[in-house]
Amino acid sequence: MALPLRSLTPAPPDPILGLSESFKADTRPEKVNLSVGVYVNDSGVTPVIPSVLEAERRLLEKAGSKGYLPIDGRPGFKAAVRDLIFGAEHEIVTSGRSATAQTPGGTGALRVAADFLLQAGASKTIWLSEPTWPNHPQLFTLAGFVLRTYPYLDESGRQVDLHKMLGALRSAVPGDVVLLHGSCHNPSGVDPDQETWAAIGEIVVERELLPVVDFAYQGFGFGLREDADWLAGLARPGLEFLVCSSYSKNFALYNERVGALTIVAADPSRAASALSHLKIAIRANYSNPPAHGGDIVETILMDPTLRAQWEVDLAVMRNRILGNRAALVDALVAAEVPGMWEPIRRQRGMFALLGLSAAQVARLRDEFGVYVVGKGRINVAGLTPANLPHVVASVKAVIEG
Ligand SMILES: Cc1ncc(COP(=O)(O)O)c(C=O)c1O
Repeated sequence: MALPLRSLTPAPPDPILGLSESFKADTRPEKVNLSVGVYVNDSGVTPVIPSVLEAERRLLEKAGSKGYLPIDGRPGFKAAVRDLIFGAEHEIVTSGRSATAQTPGGTGALRVAADFLLQAGASKTIWLSEPTWPNHPQLFTLAGFVLRTYPYLDESGRQVDLHKMLGALRSAVPGDVVLLHGSCHNPSGVDPDQETWAAIGEIVVERELLPVVDFAYQGFGFGLREDADWLAGLARPGLEFLVCSSYSKNFALYNERVGALTIVAADPSRAASALSHLKIAIRANYSNPPAHGGDIVETILMDPTLRAQWEVDLAVMRNRILGNRAALVDALVAAEVPGMWEPIRRQRGMFALLGLSAAQVARLRDEFGVYVVGKGRINVAGLTPANLPHVVASVKAVIEG
């Protein structure tokens, strides 16, 4: 019996990670990679942040064990990230109506969330924002979901179109799953404000939807608590939802694969019961999570000095991105590049969506060596004083045709 692979044509490269390969092979000195969602400093380096270095030093001294973790991860890590997501005093924490599992990155959290939901008999329909992170449709389709989309941005691409978004969600069937970006929407950087989150919460209750919050960028927008506006919209008595959180970005622990899935249930016994099922989904998937990244996060969050250092480290990354946003907008406006750029200054997170056509994105890459994805999503962190003039001149050239 031959492998079914024999009849398969090669799959296209990953739309984001695949571009990095082409970038590496590009020999032009002026090339700029703004495609991958990884923080870099002005030298183009993704640094290990000081709080992480110190936590690793302490972990090495402790010389723990490489034995398996529990299926749902280390209890100290689970409690620490739960408190980080909700705030230790939040009713969801004090009532005990949540259950957390440590996962391999935010992607691992999303995948086990998908498996758990289908295994638990949830609706097979998931609503994704249009646009969204390209891995969302792929991940949920391969897990067995049927995809629907809700429009997210207005014509300008610079703000949420609440009317259209709620209109689409009104046609959802009770029980349908809806994926919401907690903060720093990928790819647009456009987030709902508090009022908009309240309206989203209303529709979720009215249509009896099941929210999955993808919370991959806590602290990368405006601050740890500022980036949790979604919580006020969804934390309602009886409303159950899932949160997939990632520590890749806010701890710069990309290759350690550290994340968490938190189930918020109506009451503590339902949360405990949900966790028992979630453990089956995990056991059948990767058995138990990797330890090292989680140990770093736990060490930092549990030690007041290290935590304070980490908040400084995070602020350095956040403020650099905000500074880059301002520099980009100033440069686009000064160069009289046609378009509405000002809102990019106050958007959240690593990404901005320039709103380019596929042909313009291809020209940016082929003619100017500027690598961006989708409709012109750029990693704002990838801009530096050295490459900004070339990026802006290239964007102007492709927009003016
Ligand atoms: C919206 C969104 N969700 C989830 C993730 C996954 O993060 P991780 O690298 O922790 O798997 C990313 C990473 O780029 C992301 O942008």
